[in-house]
Amino acid sequence: MGEEFPWIKILLECRDEVRRRISFLPMISNKPTQQPRLGAGGDLLEQPDLEAEKAIVDTLRKHLASFTLISEESGILEYGSTPDKCYVTTDPIDGSTNMYRGIPFYATSIAVSKEPTLKSVHSALVADLHHNVVYTSQKDKGSTRNEKRIFPSQLDTLTEAVIGADLNTYRVDQVSSRLTPLIRETKHVRHLGANALELCYVADGTTDAFVDIRGKLRTTDIAAAHLILNEAGAIITTPDGDPFQARLDPRQRVSFVASGNKKNHQAILKLIRAKKEQEC
Ligand code: IPD
Ligand code: CA
Repeated sequence: MGEEFPWIKILLECRDEVRRRISFLPMISNKPTQQPRLGAGGDLLEQPDLEAEKAIVDTLRKHLASFTLISEESGILEYGSTPDKCYVTTDPIDGSTNMYRGIPFYATSIAVSKEPTLKSVHSALVADLHHNVVYTSQKDKGSTRNEKRIFPSQLDTLTEAVIGADLNTYRVDQVSSRLTPLIRETKHVRHLGANALELCYVADGTTDAFVDIRGKLRTTDIAAAHLILNEAGAIITTPDGDPFQARLDPRQRVSFVASGNKKNHQAILKLIRAKKEQEC
């Protein structure tokens, strides 16, 4: 089952089913705000994330006899007798904390590939579940936002740029000190809390770049956005400027720099590298 299959139609059906199944959440249905519920270990209860994953699996199983699910929630699950012919990589809810807190920025991310590698992804969807905005892409066919072709920013000076930088607590001392020169040079810095969607903002020029050098993000978060970025004509590399490749596996962690154009990309890499070299 390859690119000729109506993948985008099926991925949109998955998105609709996720929306339907999480619509009971008070912060989504516009009911009075409640405190987020905490589990025994102090973590937010994950049931809506699992429900979103179930929505995706149930929808896929209506259309596909066999596939391997690679999910941030349940890990790797095989369905049917030939699971090595089709891989579906998903983060059912990217931006869970935003969703639980009622911050309107969270997404469903789904990528389809013939192998469990980033480079073999051929169909992808990232759906902003709050704003009813959907990004899709198919290999060699470009990327779209609500069905309109998208292209990245051509702004080539950091002094006017809007750049996303993930500083979510993890090795914060090293990460923040390495990003300091970039933050100093950049006019506007953001972190909105759902990295798949933030990469789509680079793909359609809403922002000029997005940087996550923590080594914490899972490939499940970016499998779909990676195709959307590449097909839109944006650039993504490792923080050292090497080609960005990864296995699709919830245990695999990544670091990257994504930008709208070469000039900004080189400028960002140089600022990040300069700090790394100083520290060596
Ligand atoms: C999170 C978001 C967030 C990033 C975290 C991710 P999740 O995804 O993408 O922006 O800083 O590292 O884990 O946990 O909500 O799927
Ligand atoms: Ca998630």
